[in-house]
Amino acid sequence: MPANFRSDNENPVAPEIMEALTRANEGTAYSYGDDAITERVKDRFCEVFETDLEVFPLVSGTAANALAVAQTTPPYGAVICHQDSHLHTDECGAPEFYSGGAKLLTLAGASGKLEPKSVRERIAEAGYVGDHASKPCLLSLTQATEFGTVYSVEEVGELAQVAHEAGLAVHMDGARFANALCSLGCSAAEMTWRSGVDLLSFGATKNGAMMAEALLVFDADDAGELGRRRKQAGHLISKMRYVSAQLDAYLADDLWLELAAHANRMATRLAEGLEDAQDVELVYPVHGNEIFVRMEEGFAECLRDDGFEFYGWPGRPGLYRLVTAHCTAESEVDEFLDAIQALDGD
Ligand SMILES: Cc1ncc(COP(=O)(O)O)c(C=O)c1O
Repeated sequence: MPANFRSDNENPVAPEIMEALTRANEGTAYSYGDDAITERVKDRFCEVFETDLEVFPLVSGTAANALAVAQTTPPYGAVICHQDSHLHTDECGAPEFYSGGAKLLTLAGASGKLEPKSVRERIAEAGYVGDHASKPCLLSLTQATEFGTVYSVEEVGELAQVAHEAGLAVHMDGARFANALCSLGCSAAEMTWRSGVDLLSFGATKNGAMMAEALLVFDADDAGELGRRRKQAGHLISKMRYVSAQLDAYLADDLWLELAAHANRMATRLAEGLEDAQDVELVYPVHGNEIFVRMEEGFAECLRDDGFEFYGWPGRPGLYRLVTAHCTAESEVDEFLDAIQALDGD
């Protein structure tokens, strides 16, 4: 069966997580997060991040991002984010809606990354007109970015410093947090709170969970009334044990890192195989599990006719995304490369 490289969201749940769900499905458990599994998940997150933090299990990344924005940004505030960020392009205004009117201030930046200079300038610009402009309150970074690239620990630190110096909080959209972490080979603490990140949307769904994300807040003082905010938004899940069971299994025995490391390895294999192709150009450095390529539409259609599946990037003709996952087989990658080789240079 030719591979589906459309999205890591389209892949099945890791067996360890399915088994954990079955185990959780025994007897009764307290609802709304008062169960033993949710308690254990909190301990696991504290252990992984080497600090005492607040955990809010959720079922979508959009909810995590929008709640992070609402928690840090008043209706008259603004969020600085990349122009291609999920927050801006793919959440149907949820951050603006949850915050009751906050504005997104978007910036360009090579390979999906924000740059300290432009962030500093944007903050200053908002200051020129005082009360006439929304007040920048949050800097949101995506790690790994929408184009599959990864900020280094130093880059995160530098951006966070610019934000903190101007009084902004720092949020990280970590829908592909594990892929980024495996790519850098640093600790979860280094990539987040030790570098100045205040809130993290921690993703698990794309990397083998069924539907489990969490909003992590590194300083309990920043989490005031976030519980109520989550409830008001309709995201306090009554049968929370099933969300927590996924996160519990995901974090146990470093499963999350194993799954992401595999997805990244498959992406590297694919990218290396594409390097010699004449008709396929790698557009961004491949750091995690996403590969962006440029090819002629006709060439892409031939691959689709062979049964391979991948996205054309919206609004960017000729740009295609290939995503590998925790369960992508080497043979799937190799078959795709063989198909490319057969068509290449014709
Ligand atoms: C960078 C990024 N952030 C957040 C999300 C979360 O989205 P969802 O609300 O579909 O879980 C996604 C999913 O595509 C994403 O790619």
